[in-house]
Amino acid sequence: MPVLKNISTLYTCIDQGGQGDIHPIQDAAVCWRESVIDWVGPVSQLPDEYRGDVAHDAKGKVVIPGLVDCHTHLVFGGWRPDEFEMRVEGQSYLEIAREGGGILSTVNETRVVSEDALFEKASALLIQIAQLGVTTVECKSGYGLTTEDELKILRVIRRLAEESAVTIIPTFLGAHTIPREFQSDREDYIQLIMDEMIPCVADEKLAVFCDVFVDDTAFSVEEAQRILECGKEYGLRPKLHADQLSSCGGAELAAEVGAISADHLEQVSDQDIRSMADAGVTGVALPFASLYTQQPFLDCRKLVSNGVRVAVATDFNPGSAPSYDLPLAMMLACNLNRLTPTEVLKAATIYAAGAIGIDHLTGSIESGKYADFVVMDTPSVNFWMYHFTSTPKHQVYLKGRKLALKQTKL
Ligand code: NIG
Ligand code: FE
Repeated sequence: MPVLKNISTLYTCIDQGGQGDIHPIQDAAVCWRESVIDWVGPVSQLPDEYRGDVAHDAKGKVVIPGLVDCHTHLVFGGWRPDEFEMRVEGQSYLEIAREGGGILSTVNETRVVSEDALFEKASALLIQIAQLGVTTVECKSGYGLTTEDELKILRVIRRLAEESAVTIIPTFLGAHTIPREFQSDREDYIQLIMDEMIPCVADEKLAVFCDVFVDDTAFSVEEAQRILECGKEYGLRPKLHADQLSSCGGAELAAEVGAISADHLEQVSDQDIRSMADAGVTGVALPFASLYTQQPFLDCRKLVSNGVRVAVATDFNPGSAPSYDLPLAMMLACNLNRLTPTEVLKAATIYAAGAIGIDHLTGSIESGKYADFVVMDTPSVNFWMYHFTSTPKHQVYLKGRKLALKQTKL
């Protein structure tokens, strides 16, 4: 059985205590059997049965759990660099969307790409993502917006899950926006989602969650509620893109429908924060989206002090968050969402795993969970976030296997 020794500090990030409690063990060792952790603790207490086992040397570095990116839109055709320039020059995300850009332009580009080509693109991105120490990724559909194209994207996500060691959690986001062909018949599109898309997705077991973008420009609270209730009947757990561009009751709805998380929340009201706390909804901060769409940054201190668990994710997508660099998002979340470095580590590990319903499998270093962890050349979590580089010299263990770190080919 492999054993990793010579760890100066191992941050277990077990689900105990508050947002900032990451439960360090000094002079630690961790042992695993195939893909699962068998024992973790101070090396002085290493049971005799592991002493002669294959030793990996952490060379006195720190170890953190593999990072969990609990909100991405990984599968899409094309990119939108022109919109980035337009926003920098002063046009808003919404103005660009109204002029035919935004989500619908990626929908056009995604519809014309084959399942194989989408898979090739997403799996190349996933390799880069894993190299950053990210061992779990949630992936949403939402750039198809026809039954056929939504299923195409979800099948790509399933293939990623089958062929990659990275743990992939699929989310159905047919309610991302109203597609062009239904602009004057939005009710027909909602019916299509409920009568055809959700049953097909459930039938092929292509998603775990059903997500809806609640916004003035997308779906109303009432529409979202119907879609999410329908998803629940088919076994899909609710999630929400809530209160991103305006305060329209998305977080409150998340509490009402028993959503596992409410994500974005830039415009969330104090009252809705309390509803989230009462209902146990995790709040997911997405600093890249706030940054790229010039939104105010969610004040995570308010969530934490009200007893809401906070996760941090990239929201990786070609429009509002074109970076998949979760460590960079964590550093921004410290500076702009006001999470401390230890709070942000919990936000990108065990609480992120909780936001996608797999905190029993990963997100912390404890026996019975996947052997997903990262050895990092930094003296502490605080120092990592402060003297920031996404990848201080590090080594990623993905389900017990040491990842070969590749240079990007030019
Ligand atoms: O999470 N808010 C809605 N959806 C995405 C944006 C997708 C896009 O711009 O393509 C988001 O930010
Ligand atoms: Fe998103």
